[in-house]
Amino acid sequence: MDYKYLFDGIEDEIQLPNGSYITPINFDNGATTPPLKSVIEIIVQNIKNYGPIARGVGYKGEYCTKMFNDSRETILNFFGVNNCNDYTVVYTKSDTESLNILSNTLVMNKEDMILTTRMEHHANDLPFRKVGTMIYIDVDELGRININHIEEALIKHKGKIKIVTITGASNVTGYMNPIHEIARIAHKYNAIIIVDGAQLVAHKEVNLRGSYEEDDIDFITFSAHKAYSPFGSGAIVGKKQYLNNPEPFLSGGGCVSGVFDERVLWTSIPEKFEAGTQNFFGVITMAKSLSDLKNIGFDNIEEHEAKLKNYLIDNMKKINNVTLYGDTENTDDRLGVITFNVENRDYESLAFKMATEKGISLRAGKFCAHPYVYRLMGVKDWDAYKDIVSCDHYYGMVRASLGLYNTTEEADIFLNHLEYVANRRNPNRKFRIQSKNIRF
Ligand code: ALA
Repeated sequence: MDYKYLFDGIEDEIQLPNGSYITPINFDNGATTPPLKSVIEIIVQNIKNYGPIARGVGYKGEYCTKMFNDSRETILNFFGVNNCNDYTVVYTKSDTESLNILSNTLVMNKEDMILTTRMEHHANDLPFRKVGTMIYIDVDELGRININHIEEALIKHKGKIKIVTITGASNVTGYMNPIHEIARIAHKYNAIIIVDGAQLVAHKEVNLRGSYEEDDIDFITFSAHKAYSPFGSGAIVGKKQYLNNPEPFLSGGGCVSGVFDERVLWTSIPEKFEAGTQNFFGVITMAKSLSDLKNIGFDNIEEHEAKLKNYLIDNMKKINNVTLYGDTENTDDRLGVITFNVENRDYESLAFKMATEKGISLRAGKFCAHPYVYRLMGVKDWDAYKDIVSCDHYYGMVRASLGLYNTTEEADIFLNHLEYVANRRNPNRKFRIQSKNIRF
């Protein structure tokens, strides 16, 4: 299946430094994704209609307020928890803001323990480091966690771990963690679970309800710009019962029902956590892209992306001088996120060559997950520290991260050029082209 027709802006040619024009290939969907056409349409349809949300009285304001609030139901429906009163949607500006709000709302003081992993993006580590005491589960040599270690830590710390916060899918290896099993373990020891869904929600169906109540996910966070909407919006979807007592992390207009000389009365949830003027377009586009993904169907999305991932991994393994990170044999628990290096070539120049010679966008570096990248590369913390303070920046990788619209034809162009760069072969010699017969 080719999903390109659903997207805009992906086939506009770009000019390479040598002056030639080329249709670019975006294998950097882990960083950000292009918009669905339907998302652009909803912006165009509403750009002349916007008015204040939940503030003024007037046609435009009421029209927008209704769309804004209806979008919460669409998002709850996406996560399988519509028509139930225990979950809510808090709009934020990004996954990072969502996790900062949660850490500052749920962690009371430094005595509170938070369990996380060495697989995390910094957004799911640093906000919690600031406010509580961290317990980390380490990864094995292939970069996976062992969920038994989570239970062992919960037992060892005798009920002091309040929160288990874990990525739903890694932005470095694409490993998906078994979030419902982890939820069950966390709940057994009276901890709540937060899932950082930034890399997950556009690629795999997520139902916050488990098979049993103890498997429910308490909170998931994500950003819309990794799910085919523009920058600037994200959300926390979670159980209201944990948001009841504290004051909001962000405050200002819109989150209060009364302000007096010495006292403040906060509004109810979720508005209490949404101080300031709302991002109307961010919210309606986020809801639109999520409902479109649901309509495309996650069976289709997962099948397409898994085939492309396996095609890339299988063929990258055959290229001399390419090192791949993570498990390249058993890949069922990996999304289409593939990290690699080429022998005797630094990661930045590798990505630069792929971009400037063939218009292929990749990401190079440590992907805001430094401890995880160092582990995958077998680098000790002290050596990593010396690398940064000496400004060598020797350690890093290149990442290809796939989106729904990527194709096997694009994969072939990527593989051809990677083989050329890795082995300095004649660029006109073609890689095995199987794509003519395979439709993903
Ligand atoms: N967190 C995003 C990435 O992994 C930006 O690229």
